[in-house]
Order: sequence, then structure tokens, then C-alpha cells
Amino acid sequence: MKHVLVPGGAGYIGSHTVYALINSGYKVIVVDNLETGFKQAIHPDAVFYHGDIRDSAFINSVLDNEHIDAVIHFAANSLVGESMTNPLKYYDNNLHGTRVLLDAMLKHEIKRIVFSSTAATYGEPERIPILETHRTNPTNTYGETKLAMERMFYWTQAAHGLKYVSLRYFNACGALPGGKIGEAHNPETHLIPIILQAALGKRENIAIYGDDYPTRDGTCVRDYIHVDDLAQAHILAMEHLLNNGSSEIFNLGNGLGFTVKEVIEAAERVVGHPINQIISPRRAGDPAQLVASSEKIIRMLNWQPKMPDIEAIVASAWAWHSTHPNGY
Ligand code: UFG
Repeated sequence: MKHVLVPGGAGYIGSHTVYALINSGYKVIVVDNLETGFKQAIHPDAVFYHGDIRDSAFINSVLDNEHIDAVIHFAANSLVGESMTNPLKYYDNNLHGTRVLLDAMLKHEIKRIVFSSTAATYGEPERIPILETHRTNPTNTYGETKLAMERMFYWTQAAHGLKYVSLRYFNACGALPGGKIGEAHNPETHLIPIILQAALGKRENIAIYGDDYPTRDGTCVRDYIHVDDLAQAHILAMEHLLNNGSSEIFNLGNGLGFTVKEVIEAAERVVGHPINQIISPRRAGDPAQLVASSEKIIRMLNWQPKMPDIEAIVASAWAWHSTHPNGY
């Protein structure tokens, strides 16, 4: 049985990946500082160490205790808005934290890492759909630190033979079927949870950030990808590295763009009633359209999104939010 270290395994995408790993027969060791993650999100069969990857003594002691075959790294801050008002927090946690983790990995001869990157590495797209070869020009500190983390892996590979896969997610959403774990952020900034909070009456309405974009209905187009499809991609990427595969960067989206209004309409069908909505000014820094080409990971790792349908995605999120209106 292979042993997988998951820093950030109590967070949204991390916790779903831990469930998928355990379902696939892996032993999982979670490390999380519980700053934005939740203890209740950690699979009961995972081994859990409460601590921070920036704490070198802590992370080295975990690696002394456990035999680790590969790392799937989620421990990072990920709010675009916050990254613009507090950039140094992002440099500290995302970049410095990853440096300490990598250092400890190399000391323990662990040389396989899958890493959560983001569509924010591209910035304003020149072409849709976005390929991995698209130029990278982040427009926020969050994307900038994720791109710098990718480059850190690249140069560490050249010097020390590290192998890495970077997964550039588009809009992660949805929840584990069954409603046991789901998306919980405080404060919440993501579209689908906010729509569903409005549907539950926990907010007065959903504010649509701009309806004058050059898109089919004037609202922004995004590529919504179910969190379990993301989780499966992490496992495929890790298995690729464990089979001595090459270091790669892959986009992860389902290639279908939906407008904000289309997502709200899908949510209204799921919850069975209209959801209060207002039009607000544009949010600074939002590109009109972000849609991925995931052709590379489909071709190289045979990844297939199982839940590309927006209504099914929103329904899985609703199963979580309607039973956990206050999160964990
Ligand atoms: N939106 C609204 N109202 C809201 C919240 C969002 O209209 O209350 C709109 C946004 O303007 C955007 C879309 O819904 O057009 C999706 O917004 P999210 O905040 O859910 O997601 P983003 O596309 O802004 O962000 C996602 C990831 C980030 C990543 C970014 C890449 O969540 O981690 O894509 O650009 F950095």
C-alpha cells in the first residue's frame, strides 16, 4: 500500500482528494494547520498531524515518523481579493511554506509531488479555450505565488531530480455525493455557495458582478469543474509520477463555459424556486471568460470528467449546503 502525504487535507479540495485516495486503497497522512480547513472534513481513516508546513521541525518530524511515497500538496491561501490586500501573507504561506516542505521532502528522499495550481496563473486570456502553452501573466498575487511555486518545482527538479505535476484548476465546485463533506469558506466568495446561501435565505440575494461583459448574456463565463473530478485527476497524476512519468503541467476544467446567469438558472431548477438576484458593478480583476482546454490530461492520463453537467454539479453542492447551512 502506498503512503501519501496530503498537506492541506482538511481544506475543500484537499479533503475531497483524501476521500478519493482512501477509496482507491491508499494510506493517507494529512497535515493541516486548520487555519482555513476543518477537522471534521478529514476522513476518519486518515492519520492527522495538526501543524504548519512553515514549521520545519514539525514537518521534518512528520516525515521522520511516516514512510511517504508521494505528496499531494494543497496547503496554501487561495483568496484572490485577500492576496491583493495582504500580498506578503501569500508569499509567506504559499511560497515560503512550499520551500520548507520541499526542503524536508528532499532530506527524506521524497521526490514525487502533485501540486494544486490555478487558472489565475494565466491572467487575462488571449485565446479561449486556454491551453497549457498559453502565456502566463497573473493579474493578482495569488496567481503570482502559484506560478512562482511551479517555477520552484521546475528548478528543484533540475538540481535534485524532483518530479512534479502541477494541476491548474479552473472553477472548483460541488461536493462529495452523499453530502458528508463540501465547500465551506469563511468568508465565502465563490459563486455557487453564495447562490445557494441566497436560496436558503441566509443572504438577501445573489449579486451578479456585471452584466455588460462581451458574452452571450453579458455575465462572466467560467469553467466549473466538479471537485471529485479534480480529486480523481490528482490520483492519476500521482500514479503517473509513481510510474516514473515525466513532470507535467495540466489544466483541469471540463471545457464547458457557463455564464453567471446560467449557473443561477441551474440552481433555481435544482432548488425548485426562484432565487433573489441583483445586478452589481463589475468586480475588479474578473476576466470576461475563462474556459480550459483539458485535452492534454485527457490524452496523457486518460482523465475523464464524470460530472460535466452544471445542474448535476449544483445538485451535489445543494446536497451539502442544504444539510449544512452553517458549514461544518
Ligand atoms: N460572481 C458573482 N457574484 C458573486 C460571486 C461571484 O457574480 O457573489 C461571479 C464572478 O464575477 C465570476 C464568477 O461568478 O464571474 C465566478 O466567481 P468565483 O469567485 O466563484 O470564482 P473566480 O472565477 O473568481 O475564481 C476562480 C477560483 C480562484 C482562481 C480564479 C482564476 O476560485 O481560486 O478562478 O481566475 F484564482
